Parts: sequence; structure tokens; C-alpha cells
Amino acid sequence: MLTSNEIKKKLGEYAAGLIGSDMLIGLGTGSTVYWLIQELGKRVGEGLHITIVPTSTQTKVLASELGMQVAELNDVDSIAFTIDGADEADPQFQLIKGGGGALLREKMVAAASQELIIIVDESKMVENLGKFPLPVEVIPFGWNHVRRRIKQLGCEEIILRQKEGKTFISDQGNYILDCHFQIIAEAAKLNEELNLIPGVVETGLFIDMATAIITGYEDGRIEVKRK
Ligand code: A5P
Repeated sequence: MLTSNEIKKKLGEYAAGLIGSDMLIGLGTGSTVYWLIQELGKRVGEGLHITIVPTSTQTKVLASELGMQVAELNDVDSIAFTIDGADEADPQFQLIKGGGGALLREKMVAAASQELIIIVDESKMVENLGKFPLPVEVIPFGWNHVRRRIKQLGCEEIILRQKEGKTFISDQGNYILDCHFQIIAEAAKLNEELNLIPGVVETGLFIDMATAIITGYEDGRIEVKRK
């Protein structure tokens, strides 16, 4: 049986095989995509030439250290596909993302891509979204009022994200509220309601964005599902 980290590594290696020379792709963020970046770095060292649009500073730094050409989202027209991880994915391909705090750039890069390919280990596949706390990116000004408004949408526990004893700050200089909904019955509706609250920048609900989900299993299997 593979450990969670071994599954992630296998997924990263598999996903690297989808990327051909001279392609422009979006690169996600997180511990699964980390392995994809490592494998791509190896292939770049062997002569593969690719340009990536990063979804976070973390990915940008890692990819450039490994010799990949990095483009800014503003400087490209359309991206063939983005490969990213997720915190939860349901059978309708709806996602919760943002566990690593990069949801805003991840969503923008995904929206500029023709396809969003998600790589997840089997533990991320769920019947209902919501057990993983939904990250909502908010501006620092008046965030406590935003928290109250989210509570009114039926979320009992909302935590201002901390990192190393300090308030977590996103790449865009914002805060993240981790919203423990437990079960999200209508993800699309909730996404719209959250986005209507003044002060909310973006939510970690990725609705109708994923076009393929690649799942890695403990027994070593890799399953590809397309929408
Ligand atoms: C980063 O902000 C997230 O959206 C990640 O893509 C997501 O949290 C999955 O990360 P892991 O691959 O580390 O679980």
C-alpha cells in the first residue's frame, strides 16, 4: 500500500507525462503539485522546454529554480491547461481549494485556461463538499463583519487563518477565513452568496471549472475521469 506522499509523487509523475515540449501551461500549488514540479524539473534538465504560469509565489520560485520559463498571467492570452491539486472533489467535479491559501490566483489562472486538470489522492474524493473548511479570501479591512455575514449563511465556526503564530497573509495581501460548513448542499448557490458579501475577494469553491480529475489510489492505481 502506498503512503499519501507516495500517491502524490506518483500523481505528479503521471501528470508530467501530459505536458509536451514548447507548451504553455498553468501550474497549481500544494504538496501534490510539488511532485509534478519536481518531475518537470527533471525533464527540463533533459531538454524539455516549457513555459508555465504559476498560481502562487511558492510555485513560481520552485519552477524557476528548476529551470522552467515563467510567464505572468497578464502576458499570455490563453493557457492550454492548468494542472492543480484540490482539498475536496465531488462526483460532479465541484471542488474546494485553497488549503494552501493560493485560491485567488489559482482560480484566475484556471479561468484563463481551456482545461483544469485536478490531481488528487483518493482521500480527497467526497460525496458532499464541506467537511474540509472552505477557505474564503477577504480583505483585511473589516474582516470581522465579513465573518458575521458568513455566519448568517449558516456557518457556525469561522476561523481567521493563522500561520506560525501570525495571521496568514495571501500572495495578494489578504486574509483567509476558514469556514467549517461541514456539509455544503448547494455549492454553486453558496459561492454566489459569498461573492456578494462586500469584502470577500474570492472563495475556494471551484464550480464547473475542473474538466478532468486524476485520482491516485493506495494500491497504486491511477484513474482518469473526464467531464
Ligand atoms: C492551494 O491553495 C490549494 O488550493 C491546493 O491546491 C490544495 O490545497 C491541494 O493541496 P495539496 O496537494 O497539498 O493537498
